[in-house]
Amino acid sequence: MMSQELQFPLSPIRLGVLLSGRGSTLENLLARIRAGQLDAQVVHVHSSRPDARGLQIAAQAGVPTSVCLRREFASVEQFSQQVFSLVEQHQPHLIVMAGYVKLLRIPPRWENRVMNIHPSLIPAFCGKGYYGHRVHEAVLRYGCKLTGCTVHFVDNQYDHGPIVLQRAVPVLEGDTVETLAARVQAAERELYPLAIALFAAGALEVQGRWVHIRQDRAPWVAQLLDSV
Ligand code: GRF
Repeated sequence: MMSQELQFPLSPIRLGVLLSGRGSTLENLLARIRAGQLDAQVVHVHSSRPDARGLQIAAQAGVPTSVCLRREFASVEQFSQQVFSLVEQHQPHLIVMAGYVKLLRIPPRWENRVMNIHPSLIPAFCGKGYYGHRVHEAVLRYGCKLTGCTVHFVDNQYDHGPIVLQRAVPVLEGDTVETLAARVQAAERELYPLAIALFAAGALEVQGRWVHIRQDRAPWVAQLLDSV
C-alpha cells in the first residue's frame, strides 16, 4: 500500500501517531499544525491502550483512531503486523511515536520512516523500563548535570535506532522529577516538530547509524540547529 517512493518535499506531510498515554506530544503537534508552524496533517492516531487520553485528544481533533492490545497477540511479529496494517490504511508518510511504550518489529518498508522522541540523551537512560518519570528519576539519582531529549528513527530495539536530533537540557540544583520533566518536555516540544519538518523536506539521509542533515534541502534549518 505504501511502498511507493516518497516525493519530497512532502507538503503537508501525513503523520500517523502511535501513543500509549497522556498524548501531550500529540497535543503539541496538533497545536503547531493549527498555528501554521508545522506543515503536517495527523491522519491517524493509534494507541496500545483503550483508555489513553491521547485517543480523546485525537477524537476532539477529528482524527480517526485505532487500538491494538499487545496481550491479544502471541508474538511481537503478529502484533506489529496488525499495528502497521491499521496505520497504513491512512497512508501516512511518516509514523511518529508519541509516548508509545510497546516494542514493535519494524517492517522493512517502514525502515527509517518511524520516529520516536525519548526524554534523555541516548544512549544514557534509555531502553527497556526507561519511560516517563522513571527516566528523570534515574538522571537525578545518578547526579547528572546534563540531560535532554533525543529524536531517533525506530528499529527493533527500544530507543536504539539512528539519532536524528538531540537537545541538551541542564539539571539544576534543587530539581525534582517534575521540574526536570517540565524542562525536558519544553525542549521536546521544539525538537520533534523540527525533526518532522526535516523529514518532510527530504533533508534526512541515513547512512548506517548516521543521520546526515542535508541543509541544501532545508536551508531554513541552519539558524535553528544553532539553538539545538
Ligand atoms: C515524552 O516525554 C516522550 O519523551 C516520551 O513519552 C512522553 C510523551 O508522553 N516518549 P505523552 O505525549 O504526554 O503521552
